[in-house]
Amino acid sequence: MFLEELGKIEEEAGRELREADSQDKLSSWHTRYLGRKGRLTSILKSIGALSLENRKEVGSKANQVKERLSLSFSQRKDELSCGPSLREDVDITLPGRPFTYGSLHPTTKVLREICTIFSGLGFGVVEGPEIEEDYYNFEALNMPEDHPARDMWATLWMENGLLLRTHTSPMQIRIMERASPPIRVIIPGRCYRYEATDATHESMFYQVEGLAVDKGITLAHLKGTLTEFSHLLFGEERKIRFRCDYFPFVEPGMEMSIECLSCQGKGCRTCRGSGWLEILGAGMVHPRVLERVNIDPEVYSGFAFGMGVERIPMLKYRIDDIRHFYADDLRFLAQFR
Ligand code: PHE
Repeated sequence: MFLEELGKIEEEAGRELREADSQDKLSSWHTRYLGRKGRLTSILKSIGALSLENRKEVGSKANQVKERLSLSFSQRKDELSCGPSLREDVDITLPGRPFTYGSLHPTTKVLREICTIFSGLGFGVVEGPEIEEDYYNFEALNMPEDHPARDMWATLWMENGLLLRTHTSPMQIRIMERASPPIRVIIPGRCYRYEATDATHESMFYQVEGLAVDKGITLAHLKGTLTEFSHLLFGEERKIRFRCDYFPFVEPGMEMSIECLSCQGKGCRTCRGSGWLEILGAGMVHPRVLERVNIDPEVYSGFAFGMGVERIPMLKYRIDDIRHFYADDLRFLAQFR
């Protein structure tokens, strides 16, 4: 008799649960079937009056029914709590919104390319401070106070006598102070100059410095390294040329130019009619600079170079104004996806 009753309870409870479509109906259902005075509970209570055999059978059946109903109850509860939004408010047939991807800044891309090339040639990558001392930015680079060549770098001075580095060359000194030859490193980083900005000048820009010091380093090593670099970055067919130039911390000093990318050397506005674009300064580390960091110039020699970074993406992607780079305009940046 009890067994029949249990079957009936389970069937009715199941049906009513499916029909319950609000939290109120759900909790009244719970009271009626599973609550302390619910139908199932009252059967479980009266089991004690049965014979031992019946008690076992009815007891286990009643417990199974109770378990199943509890499970159905919590499922139904979950359904109802997220139900309305799924059923009515959200059109799940609409296509999803696409993600908007960011992209690397053109400067970052070129910096990474440059670092990869020089890593392949055996150079380590080191970074240094953007706030510098006069000593590293000028004095140790063979430019004592009042040296006229200091004017080549319009300098942003700070009130405490420090300055914002005008080039990455101070890192030559910092590295040679700490390490002994053989040295082979490049130093990418930000530089600052006190200049009116225009299409080709920004007050903040990037340079990559290079330095190699060892026994028997010659100008041929410098030219070979830079030629290889140009081949890897601009392609082997791109002509390059070296010409004499002056920097107080190298002797001899030179600049490297590449054939103009816009006109292939014919002469245009970008190269101011010359057919060539200067991309870096370089030279053999001045013996006095080596002496200053206690490296014997009779035993060791070295080469150094420094290149402007923005110049390269400007030429590669035909960007006509350096001020686009750090204006944070997404219309500009999104073109480099
Ligand atoms: N530091 C120089 C500049 O900013 C470039 C340079 C680096 C020249 C190393 C020679 C050797 O113009």
